[in-house]
Amino acid sequence: MTLPEDAPLTSFVIAVDGPAASGKGTIATGLGKAFDLPVLDTGLLYRCVGVMMQKAGANLDNHEEAAACALLLTADQLDDPALRTRAAGEAASRVAVHPRVRDALMEFQRTFARQEGGAVLDGRDIGTVIAPDAQAKLFVTASPEVRAERRWKQLKAQGERVSLKDVRADIARRDARDGGRDAAPMRPAPDAVLLDTSEMTIDHAADAARRIVEAARAKWISST
Ligand code: DC
Repeated sequence: MTLPEDAPLTSFVIAVDGPAASGKGTIATGLGKAFDLPVLDTGLLYRCVGVMMQKAGANLDNHEEAAACALLLTADQLDDPALRTRAAGEAASRVAVHPRVRDALMEFQRTFARQEGGAVLDGRDIGTVIAPDAQAKLFVTASPEVRAERRWKQLKAQGERVSLKDVRADIARRDARDGGRDAAPMRPAPDAVLLDTSEMTIDHAADAARRIVEAARAKWISST
């Protein structure tokens, strides 16, 4: 179908995936501003389920209880600063292995992605599972050492007392779990553009991401 040249561009979806502390969150926020689109940090959903489980004293490996928490989740819970802690990140990665938790969180993410105008979503499986039809897909990476240093500085700024060595171990464990699970493992979509931010400042990385998305947007516009 060929649309007239002045047809409204209805929905432009940007998928930003990548491992912990790769810079994908900052990049997604920058893309949201640059393209005037709402942004969803999907890691917060899993963090929220992990924190709900911990508050209830539940075992994070219990998939039934974790799925029940995921079904109770509402958008207003996502602003809680407790979701940003190191413990919440680890709990999130553990509950994220359960297929029923992922299924329970899918509709929330897909509804966000399908909103009028479009959206930016960042996570692990956005380009592969949540929005495989996204018009722009990025897979943001950085070396484990660089990511560990970034996350360590972030946690210190939040007031957490943790050694760089422990953060390195956290990152290695999260990479192995997030990439090795059976349900929607973290991996680049075949049509994602890889962006290695190891040697980049955050401004440089945000700029590179914007250029990649501008190119994808131009291609999308010319194909509609
Ligand atoms: O992006 P983050 O570090 O806040 O994510 C926390 C954990 O949540 C991550 O280790 C794995 C899980 N996660 C996921 O499985 N799928 C997503 N789309 C986002 C996060």
